[in-house]
This record gives sequence, structure tokens and C-alpha cells, in this order.
Amino acid sequence: MNKEQWGSRAGLVFAMAGNAVGLGNFLRFPVQAIQNGGGAFIIPYLVSFLLMGIPLLLVEWSIGRFGGSFGHHATPFQLHRLNKMKIWKYVGVFGLFTNIAVASYYCYLESWTITWVFHGFMRTFEGMTSLEVATYFDNYVSLDHTGIPIVVWIFTLILNTWILSRGLEGGVEKVAKIGMPLLILFGIFLAVKAFLIKAGNEGAIFDASEGLNFLWTPDFSTIWSAKVWLAAAGQIFFTLSLGMGSIHCYSSYVSRKDDIALNAMSAGWMNEFVEVVLGSAILIPISVGYLGIENVIALTTQGGLGLGFKTLPFLFEQWGPLMASLAGLFWFGLLFFAGITSSLAMGTPVMGFFMDEFNWKRKNAAWFFGLLIFIFGFPTVIFFKYGVFDEFDYWAGTVALVFFALFEIILFAWIFGIDKGWQEIKTGADIRLPELLKYVIKYVTPIFLLVVFIGSLPGIWDKLTNKALYSQLVGLSDPAMIHEVEKTIYFVNASRLLLLLLFVGISFVVYKAYKKNYAK
Ligand code: ALA
Repeated sequence: MNKEQWGSRAGLVFAMAGNAVGLGNFLRFPVQAIQNGGGAFIIPYLVSFLLMGIPLLLVEWSIGRFGGSFGHHATPFQLHRLNKMKIWKYVGVFGLFTNIAVASYYCYLESWTITWVFHGFMRTFEGMTSLEVATYFDNYVSLDHTGIPIVVWIFTLILNTWILSRGLEGGVEKVAKIGMPLLILFGIFLAVKAFLIKAGNEGAIFDASEGLNFLWTPDFSTIWSAKVWLAAAGQIFFTLSLGMGSIHCYSSYVSRKDDIALNAMSAGWMNEFVEVVLGSAILIPISVGYLGIENVIALTTQGGLGLGFKTLPFLFEQWGPLMASLAGLFWFGLLFFAGITSSLAMGTPVMGFFMDEFNWKRKNAAWFFGLLIFIFGFPTVIFFKYGVFDEFDYWAGTVALVFFALFEIILFAWIFGIDKGWQEIKTGADIRLPELLKYVIKYVTPIFLLVVFIGSLPGIWDKLTNKALYSQLVGLSDPAMIHEVEKTIYFVNASRLLLLLLFVGISFVVYKAYKKNYAK
């Protein structure tokens, strides 16, 4: 029987904030902001946080605690408790699927941060040109020349698994209590240093204010752009870890007499502080200070991760030996803590499910999760250059989140019923939530989500039909390049099949668990 508990309230809030604060805050957010016009992005982003982020946080915490009171720590049977129709437990499969699929590529990304802590601190890039630093990264992720990326990746998986096997209080909570404060300290250090960038000093061509103004000067001209709204809503999902099933799991270990309203707000706002204040104060002002806005925008069109792993390490080198070392250590150290506190959260629902439904011991469940991530992560590692990583990120880390959230809020507000639901949210609450939120949860958030979902359909269709890849094929005459694009299409399709198999596989296990434990 799974009887785990959080050690303390502070531990829970740190763990939940750690779940939310991730690589998304420092790498994805700034890049989304740059690609979507800076000041034009912030308004849709904040509106999405208020109308979608906060209501969904409350709903997910509440579903989690409610399910937990029946001994369910994963979404399939948590949703089943809200309504007995067969379909819901299969909707709940998303809460396992997404965690496994996202952790499969996320842990690889996390492993780069470990390697780059080393490179940053040891100043591997001393004296290199920006192109050389970038090539170093490209070679690393494409596994050219060396097997080290695989070794570090496996080490990252073992580390995650080992921490998970120590349980909530002894593992996850401890890492969050150490990692989160350190992350904030490192972030403040880098933000202050970024803030002091002055044109003409240490090779900078603009003041820090150039990048900050770009982000923080509201631009109402693109306020009606569907693309910007979709990007903003997608970022809110990813950064808060909504629609994943990990919030449900952490919250299922909270007792029914304990507060969820204040805890949800504390963790959610802590994430926003880290994202909006620290996340925007490092990558953008530093890279814009050295390269100018146009060049930074051009760099992000080649993929979001480049700025963090290629550009910043090169720019740190302009700050002199000591500062370059410290900045490298702090930047990649911060990314590592951001990453690991999120990947641990992806492991707990999977473990909880097997512990609840099949009476597995915690250690076995943790190692099984590690094995799953090894199996599903392997293609993202070895076929990275063929877009497998991006494909996992798109379907699991973007589309599935919105899809699941749309269904869960309909279940919660319309089928379980908003009156019961609102009561659930308020039970044990240490703060008084405005009654207005009840109506936002019932009407505004579902409509908002529906619009986001419908608005994403054309993009989903283009992706599904490999429109961008086929259009690349059009002007190509070099047989070698045609072969490469065709190979990419092959791997992209194979990744989708793999994800589908994962989903079907989990559904089958859920079906077995249902037959074994609940069917009369
Ligand atoms: N919420 C996590 C992040 O921002 C997944 O990276």
C-alpha cells in the first residue's frame, strides 16, 4: 500500500515549484518571447496565466487531492473517481503518457546541462570563436566523434531513478529544498551581472536595457495575432506543468484537511517570479547586449536551445577568466536544478500508478520508470538530428497538454459539477478565493482552452502531414540532401508510431488494473 507523505508544507511547495520551474523557464520562455515580438508576447502571456493557468492549477491540485483520498496517485483512476464512465480512465492515460514521453527527451536535455556545467566551469571554450562553440554543441548532440553524451545521459537517468527510489520526503523533497534556493541564488547573480552590461564594456555593443526594453515595452499592434496567443498559452502550459499529470500526483499526497488553494498559488506564483523576472533577465539582455535584437531573432529561428548552449557560453568568455568560470557554473548549474526538479516530478505519477494498482515496491517502481525512460529516450538520443527529440516535444510536450487539460476541466466543472468542485478546492483552504474564480473555471477557462485547441488545429494538421519537410524537398536537387530529408520524414513518422504504441500500451495496463481491482 502506497502511504507516502510530504515531510513538510515548505517541502511540498518547493517540490511543486520545482516541478513547474524547469528548463522551460530559462530556455523556452525567452525564446518564445523573442520569436513572438517581445513586448507583444507579454500581454497574451499574462492573460493566459490569469484565465487559464491559475484556474487549471486549482483544478489539478483539487483532482489530485480528491483522487489521493481514495489512494490514487495517478490520473487514470483519479479521473475514474470523478466519474465512473469508462472513457475517463483512458483520458487519464495522458497523465502517464505525457510524463513518460516528456521525460524521455527532457532527461537528455538535462544531461547536457551536466556536461556544460563542467565545460563552463573549466572554460573549455576559452579562445574559441562563436562558430567553434556552436559547432562543439552541434557535434555533441549529434553524437559525432564521441559516446560521452550517452554516458552522461545514462548517468542522468540513474541519478533521477536513485533519487526517486528514496521517496518523496527522502528524495524529491530534499533535492527541491536544496535545488530551488540555489537556483534562485544563481539566477539573481546572473541577472545582476546581465543588468550591468554596458555598451563598450567587455565587448558589449548595447546596454542591458536594449534587451529588457524589447521585452517589456508593450506592443499592442499584434495583440490579435493567433500565433502569438497560441505561443503564449502553450508556454503557460509547459512552464506550469499543466495537463501533464505531475501536479495531480504531488497533490494526491496532500491530506484532505490540508490546504491546496494557498499551496497552488504559492507554487504557481513562485514559478511566474522565476520565469518572468529571472527567466527574462538573463538570456535576452546578455545575448541582445552583445549581438543586437535582429541577430538574436535570427539565431532563435534555428531552434531555441542554441542561445542557451551555444551563444551564452561564448559570451561569458568575454567577461574574463573568473567571471566566465562562475557564469558557466551558475548558468548550467541553474539549468540542471531546474531540470532535475521537473524530471523527478515526471517520475512520481508512473511510480504511484504501479504502487497503487499492482502493489509494487517503491524501489522497483522507480527502476521501472528509469527503464522506460531509457527505452523511449534512446531514439531521442541517437536519432536527435533526425528530429525525434522535437517530435516528442511537439506531441507530448505541447499538443497532449492542451488536449488533456480541455477534457479534465470539462469533467471537473461540468460532469463532476462546479459546485462540488468549488467545494473541493475550498476544503482546508487557508485563503479565501474570490467567488468569481468559480465562474472563470466553469465558463472562461474551458472556452479559452477550446479556442486555443481549435486555433492549433491547422498547425497540428501541417505537422501531421509533414508539410514543412515536404516543402523542403521541393527545390532540392542534390541526391544526398534529398536522402537526408527523406530519412528525417521516416524518423519523424516512426517517432509518432512509437508514441502511439506507448499510449496504447499504457491504456492496456490501465484496462488490466481496472479488471483486477475495480470491475465486479
Ligand atoms: N514545467 C517544466 C518546465 O518548465 C516542465 O520545464
